[in-house]
Parts: sequence; C-alpha cells; structure tokens
Amino acid sequence: MTGAAQVAPFDGVLAGRSDRLVRDDGVVLPMDAGRWRSGAGHGDRWVLDRCTGPAVDLGCGPGRFVVALAARGVTTLGVDTSPVARALCRRRGAPMVRRDVFAPLPGEGSWAHVLLVDGNIGIGGDPVRLLTRAAALLGERGTVLVETAPEPGEWWCGTVRAGGVGAAVPWACVGSETLGALAPAAGLRVHGLSAGGSRTFAELVPT
Ligand SMILES: C[S@@+](CC[C@H](N)C(=O)[O-])C[C@H]1O[C@@H](n2cnc3c(N)ncnc32)[C@H](O)[C@@H]1O
Repeated sequence: MTGAAQVAPFDGVLAGRSDRLVRDDGVVLPMDAGRWRSGAGHGDRWVLDRCTGPAVDLGCGPGRFVVALAARGVTTLGVDTSPVARALCRRRGAPMVRRDVFAPLPGEGSWAHVLLVDGNIGIGGDPVRLLTRAAALLGERGTVLVETAPEPGEWWCGTVRAGGVGAAVPWACVGSETLGALAPAAGLRVHGLSAGGSRTFAELVPT
C-alpha cells in the first residue's frame, strides 16, 4: 500500500502530536520530530558530506536535509506524501514535491544521491522494493545514503501505528548487515559504513 493512507500516521508525528511509532510486535520506535523540524545537526554530517551532487531526499519530512544541502550549494529536492511535511517545507523554503516515493519523480535516473534517513529505509515495509526504487532514481556513479537501525543484524517488516493507535502502515527496520545482504537484490552493494557516533549510515552503489 502506498499513498495518503500509508503516511497518515506521520502527520501526527510531524505535527508533534505523537513522539513514537509502535510496531505490531509491540516494539516502540521513538520519533524525534523536534530534530526533524530543527536544522541539520552534527549527527547528519556523514550524509551531508557525501552529497557532492544533486540529491533527492525520500521522505524528507520538514526538509532539514534539503535546507542544509541547499545551503552547501547542492541542488536538492525533498519528496514526501504528507501535507504537514509540505507545509513545514514551504515555511522554511525547502523545495519539495508532495508525492509518493514510488510515483514518477523529477530527475528519474539522474540523481547523484538518494537519501533514506531517519529510518526511511522502512518506507513501504519492503526494503528491497524501496532500494530498487532508489536505484532507479540514480544517475551514473550515483549513491544511495541509508540510515540503518543501530543493531547490525536488525531485520523486521510489519506495520506501525503512531502512538499505537490509528491507521497501521507497512514499515521495516534494517541494520547495516541486513542491508548489505538485501542490497544485491536491488542491484546495489555497500560501498561504505559510518564508524562511531550514535547513528549508523551506509552508502550503497550500483553493482
Ligand atoms: C521518519 S519520517 C522522516 C523524517 C525526515 N527525514 C526529517 O528529517 O524530517 C518519515 C517520513 O516519510 C514520509 N513517508 C512515508 N511514506 C512515504 C511514501 N510512500 N512516500 C513519500 N513519503 C513518505 C512521511 O510522511 C514522513 O515525513
């Protein structure tokens, strides 16, 4: 399932009405909407420093990566289905399109970098489908930058609800080792991993 029904839980999170997603196995995923609404911080630098060309941020939320990359002179575009995300992006002047990541997007096959950060590898609940979609957006020598779950072997697919109530939407959690194992099915391989820090990232390149 994609589209408006799928992202409805994020409207509440983005608007600050909920600070967590609850998985259907009961595990709580804290959602730091305050961080999303503020500017990019030190923890985001690993991703920002690798964006050396036009970058598209899938599930951009309020657009902090879009704003930070534009400030570095990098051409960038955010993509998000949420009307709350669009309003927040507009407020801070972040270019974005309100669209499903699986719908046709500007610059198909030409982006230097595709971003899937803040747990967005979970979008759609099928990481191989999402990575395949991300790979299709890349131009030659492009890379996909993914924030991974803290546990390298994390591998979960299911549904989540904001605050444990409301609509259930497909989601996934993927650690770095799992990502490395899944990536070839999407025509990608792990090129680099972040080291240290409280958040973990991977850079993927086409095989
Ligand atoms: C975990 S939040 C990401 C926060 C964002 N990275 C930030 O810095 O604000 C997930 C975002 O993905 C968006 N999203 C979920 N499914 C989507 C889809 N299929 N297409 C586009 N955006 C989607 C949600 O609306 C939400 O803003």
